Amino acid sequence: KKTKDQLIIDAGQKHFGATVCKSCGMIYTASNPEDEMQHVQHHHRFLEGIKYVGWKKERVVAEFWDGKIVLVLPHDPSFAIKKVEDVQELVDNELGFQQVVPKCPNKIKTFLFISDEKRVVGCLIAEPIKQAFRVLSEPTGPESPSSTECPRAWQCSDVPEPAVCGISRIWVFRLKRRKRIARRLVDTLRNCFMFGCFLSADEIAFSDPTPDGKLFATKYCNT
Ligand code: ACO
Ligand code: ZN
Repeated sequence: KKTKDQLIIDAGQKHFGATVCKSCGMIYTASNPEDEMQHVQHHHRFLEGIKYVGWKKERVVAEFWDGKIVLVLPHDPSFAIKKVEDVQELVDNELGFQQVVPKCPNKIKTFLFISDEKRVVGCLIAEPIKQAFRVLSEPTGPESPSSTECPRAWQCSDVPEPAVCGISRIWVFRLKRRKRIARRLVDTLRNCFMFGCFLSADEIAFSDPTPDGKLFATKYCNT
């Protein structure tokens, strides 16, 4: 069954015209021509970016009822690298991250979660690291600086701890969140990062987590 590019209107916000596109997930105001234009542009670029046609000899590292995880390594054929670059661009755009140049580009591992509809709906980019700084639990209480003012300024310990693997990006397509896709990506990473061993949760670190990223990481590391 093929879903058409249909727009659904959020009942609660109907009167303000806020619309969520059922295919690309963008929230915009349908009554605003400028917004609508932006949506059309985003819509095509996004769906083209996450389209996955697949390739011979793709490295499937996990399979599930609703999709599979493919690992892409730096020396893979150029079309595989191109797909990773396209997805990373969409992700960086959404996160508002500057493109960071990795220290060891030839050691980057990228995991793509491919849905049954042949779309890249999840992406995890990992690299080897030697140390990380633990995020300290947020200070609570009325006097403490609120995390809403500066959501990325988590307090970090200044004592480095040994770590093995850094997650520089983790992202799941907006319309596929809370289906344990991120969890399955991290599980697969722990299994595949170093040959022959399963990394403990302590050995992985999330770099510069967003509020979503922090909520996920906290939950993931405690279970
Ligand atoms: N709020 C509260 N708890 C959350 C959230 C959230 N937004 N997201 C995940 N969790 C917790 C939940 O406990 C969840 O389990 P539950 O659904 O059974 O309650 C558990 O984490 C596992 O969640 P998943 O379903 O595996 O996570 P998901 O596939 O939805 O992906 C992610 C989480 C990647 C953070 C997603 O929300 C996302 O892509 N956000 C936008 C991009 C982003 O901010 N990425 C992190 C950047 S930081 C970095 O890249 C290092
Ligand atoms: Zn759309």
